Amino acid sequence: MKKALKIAGYVLGSIVLLLAIGAAYINSSPLPKYEVVVPDYPAFKADSTMIAEGRRTFSLVCNNCHMAQSGKLEGKYLPEIPAMFGKAWSANITSHAKYGSGRYTNAELAYLLRTGIQNDGDFVPFMPQFTQLSDTDIQNIIAYLRSDAPELAPSDVAQPAAQSSFVAKLLCRTVMKPKPYPTQAIPDPPTDNAVALGKYLVTAKLDCYGCHSPSFMNINSEFPEKTPGYLSGGNELLDEESKPILSLNITPDKETGIGNWTEEQFVKAIKTGIRPQGPAMRFPMTPFTALTDEEAKAIWAYLQTVPAIKHEEGKLDNNP
Ligand code: HEC
Ligand code: HEC
Repeated sequence: MKKALKIAGYVLGSIVLLLAIGAAYINSSPLPKYEVVVPDYPAFKADSTMIAEGRRTFSLVCNNCHMAQSGKLEGKYLPEIPAMFGKAWSANITSHAKYGSGRYTNAELAYLLRTGIQNDGDFVPFMPQFTQLSDTDIQNIIAYLRSDAPELAPSDVAQPAAQSSFVAKLLCRTVMKPKPYPTQAIPDPPTDNAVALGKYLVTAKLDCYGCHSPSFMNINSEFPEKTPGYLSGGNELLDEESKPILSLNITPDKETGIGNWTEEQFVKAIKTGIRPQGPAMRFPMTPFTALTDEEAKAIWAYLQTVPAIKHEEGKLDNNP
């Protein structure tokens, strides 16, 4: 009996030791590098419509993270990243050939946006992967990044490298991995179907469902609508001062969601930040000013079709 205990003790001791060595290794070594196998990207000629549309998409999707106080796309500190993951700064993506996106080819830009892998093989855990964004939207963004818009004029600001915590490093070796580069064309949503356009905006483009579902831990990025508690809020996010703020229930539930809102109130709220009751919407819910009325109405039409979920944690009262 004593011997068995002793053996069990050794075994347990060895496991603990191995775990400790593993943890020390993960903590001290850099994040894993990935092979950069960039597929060909078709050459295209950017016209002013593409650039304008790319700029509009960028302002809806990327500005919040990349726009510096200076009004240039020089990158900045991201206060909304939880401390448990470490600290991160977005990158300078002005056209600078050494410090900005000037050192990327179009193909490498598309590859980064789809997979999350930079052209040096580093995976960027703190930037979303745009796996379901349409090929046209990706191309317009690239056309814009190559344009001579003033906010993209070359800047030599270099942002600090991310300081990933042990948790972030552990996640990057387990569940947080690059996404595969799409093997098929990703079409635009149909323009004659408001619900389909709304779904595309909520799931593929503006990532409403990421913040507005109860937890980042069980987001279903392949089938967004299968995310548990889809759009019912209560996800604990961080504001500009890194203080907690909950996302809210935007399903049609009348008690805890936005079931009593009108289309008009909704369109005004997401475009201006002013809602029917309560204070103006706070960071990280920044108004989507560049949305067209048609798009805002499409989001509303789509939200009418998602299941109403009663979820107390997603009630406005919880965000005094
Ligand atoms: C949630 C914040 C966030 C959003 C949204 C975001 N980014 Fe980023 N981006 C980052 C971070 C963080 C990095 C990496 C910085 C680093 O290297 O540590 C980065 C890196 C990049 C780089 C790589 C630059 C380099 O130095 O290698 C490019 C290009 C880029 N982003 C473009 C975009 C575009 C285009 C969009 C919108 C479609 C976008 N980003 C949306 C946070 C974000
Ligand atoms: C970065 C995270 C984030 C993203 C992305 C986001 N939201 Fe929000 N949203 C929030 C937070 C946090 C609040 C709560 C703000 C407050 O109470 O001041 C909020 C509040 C709201 C509200 C107000 C609800 C109420 O009861 O007052 C609506 C409506 C809303 N969001 C819709 C959307 C839509 C539609 C999208 C996509 C187009 C979206 N949000 C994208 C985080 C986000």
